[in-house]
Amino acid sequence: MQLEIPERWRALKPVSWQGVVLVIGGTDTGKSTLTHYLAEQLRAAGRNIAHIDGDPGQNSLAAPASLACRISTATANDSIIQWFVGSTTPSGHMLPVIVGAQRLKEAARQSGADVILYDTSGFIDPVRGGMYLKQAKIDTLQPSLVIALQQERELELLLKPLRHHPGIRLVELTPVESVRSRNMTERRDCRTEKFAKAFREGGLLNVRWTSLAVWPRPYFDTGRLVAFCDSSGFTRGLGVVFNVEPEKREITVKTTLRSLEGIFALKTGSVRLDLNSFSEKHWE
Ligand SMILES: Nc1ncnc2c1ncn2[C@@H]1O[C@H](COP(=O)(O)OP(=O)(O)O)[C@@H](O)[C@H]1O
Ligand SMILES: [Mg+2]
Repeated sequence: MQLEIPERWRALKPVSWQGVVLVIGGTDTGKSTLTHYLAEQLRAAGRNIAHIDGDPGQNSLAAPASLACRISTATANDSIIQWFVGSTTPSGHMLPVIVGAQRLKEAARQSGADVILYDTSGFIDPVRGGMYLKQAKIDTLQPSLVIALQQERELELLLKPLRHHPGIRLVELTPVESVRSRNMTERRDCRTEKFAKAFREGGLLNVRWTSLAVWPRPYFDTGRLVAFCDSSGFTRGLGVVFNVEPEKREITVKTTLRSLEGIFALKTGSVRLDLNSFSEKHWE
């Protein structure tokens, strides 16, 4: 991809930024590309930063159904931490998105990041609660700067009150010319590829689920996406249920995780994957 860097991007000058910078906009407005560009500038300037991708659908730092944070600081160089959302859309899973956002921000701060770039999902549809989600993110993360990428007037409901906010600087941008839209099939294919990449190298791990905290409930059936988590709730590895033996309370999971050492919880997702192609099916 030939990166288009317009003058309005150059004018952003991120090197002096502090605190949380939230990037919002609809799908395919160039949020992730802009955030990667800004992260690169900040890293090149030697700043202690964290780059969070808060999109469980098209995550640019981790497998789908997760939020991820790449920390580049003096104490934690280039580590990635992940939070399992359990779904490839925030719809119906807004609480884990908000909780994960806050937990990743805290982790970034503890690792010494003084600029936290937070790239959001394109879930902005007011009818489906998208504006409440963005508002909740603003209230939780308390950004010092919000960068809004708006095509027409689709963010107005959110931007109108933000323009009056005394503590938040708002920068409004239009998407670049070369931004490319993808349809639902292309998005899904892209997720399939990422799931396949996450599991292709995996082996099989036997898990007696009564030995772990299972959240929200022990929903185990073939193909279900699960996450193995540490005692802080962060993901240590994703898994897909391969086989279930209900009488033994045991499942066999395809995962890149080699053992259950350090694993405290098993979170069950709402996504089912085909065990050969890793394409997804939603139950809801
Ligand atoms: N500045 C840019 N230069 C070139 N291509 C871009 C640029 N911004 C976005 N694109 C392309 O447009 C598509 C959508 O961009 P992306 O950053 O993933 O959007 P979003 O995160 O808002 O969904 C991607 O294929 C990306 O490569
Ligand atoms: Mg994106």
